[in-house]
Amino acid sequence: MKRVLSGIQPSGKLTLGNYIGAIKNFVALQHTHDCYFMAVDMHAITVPQEPEALKEQSESVIALYIAAGIDPAKATIFLQSHVHQHAELGWLLTTLTYMGELERMTQFKDKSTGKESVGAGLFTYPSLMAADILLYNADLVPVGDDQKQHLELTRDLAQRFNQRYGDTFTLPEPYMPKVGARIMSLDDASKKMSKSSPNQGSFITLLDPPDVVRKKISRAVTDSGREVKYDPQHKPEVSNLLSIYAQCSDLTIAEIELMYDGQGYGPFKKELAERVVAVLEPLQQRYHEIRESGEIYNILRQGAGRAIEQAEKTLRVTKEKMGFLVL
Ligand code: TYM
Repeated sequence: MKRVLSGIQPSGKLTLGNYIGAIKNFVALQHTHDCYFMAVDMHAITVPQEPEALKEQSESVIALYIAAGIDPAKATIFLQSHVHQHAELGWLLTTLTYMGELERMTQFKDKSTGKESVGAGLFTYPSLMAADILLYNADLVPVGDDQKQHLELTRDLAQRFNQRYGDTFTLPEPYMPKVGARIMSLDDASKKMSKSSPNQGSFITLLDPPDVVRKKISRAVTDSGREVKYDPQHKPEVSNLLSIYAQCSDLTIAEIELMYDGQGYGPFKKELAERVVAVLEPLQQRYHEIRESGEIYNILRQGAGRAIEQAEKTLRVTKEKMGFLVL
């Protein structure tokens, strides 16, 4: 069975972009693959986090995974910091990573530009991400489009290691949705929908109440035309809404275009909001049940146990190949 690994940072509320770009595929892949899904708390601290908020958000990400339909009996669900092998392999891979490679990472450029002091961890972030993936020899990594560059670096590092020390790591492939790999902001379709945006109206969180979702979608920027048509170059706002619609229904973009032919944006946005609410409402109900059940710690304990077993095997082999004295 092929292996899948992915993670999400517990650094704020998760958005519809996280759901469409990543979580939806996590849920689908668990039936056919050996899956590992984590909350990457060690990555989250590459920007300052309030300790209490970090705890809350880590639990929240795990609860959202389960609420979205990931079954802890099928997939291994865990926190990155519970498996110390991530930090250790991260360091080993940092020593193989070139400064120039890290300087080229667009996520680093986006997060560091204009900041007075930038933590070194933000710079070496991709080496830790490579460790996350290579520790489990993952074949597939379900992610949104913004993580493609990190995946390419992971492949380069795996290849570099294999050439230097002999075949060790599997080269992972990104696995992205055909539609919605990059959900854009509701107020500016040139920017990715992001939980760190200061404008709350620009993103939908998975825990937004139905009326908030309706309001945000009704206020989403469109264009001065009235044709519901997928054309990312000339109609980026409407195309983005169409991607969200397709991902929150069983319809293709062509079918949705046909449904709203000649009707303008009003009815389209109204029904889109209802489709999004229909996805989020049951998810939110399950989310609250799971948080109240007190089961999260048990699930994490079990997940960490399974993850450590696999991670320790890979780390041991890696250290042996590099010339460490392994007892
Ligand atoms: P993070 O926490 O920023 O985002 C989690 C996942 O959501 C996807 N995503 C989106 N997809 C579509 N449209 C959007 N607007 C959107 N915003 C976010 C991201 O592409 C991602 O898949 N570096 C990673 C976390 C990570 C990881 C890993 C991922 C650490 N180690 C190992 C995979 C494997 C990150 O910052 O994701």
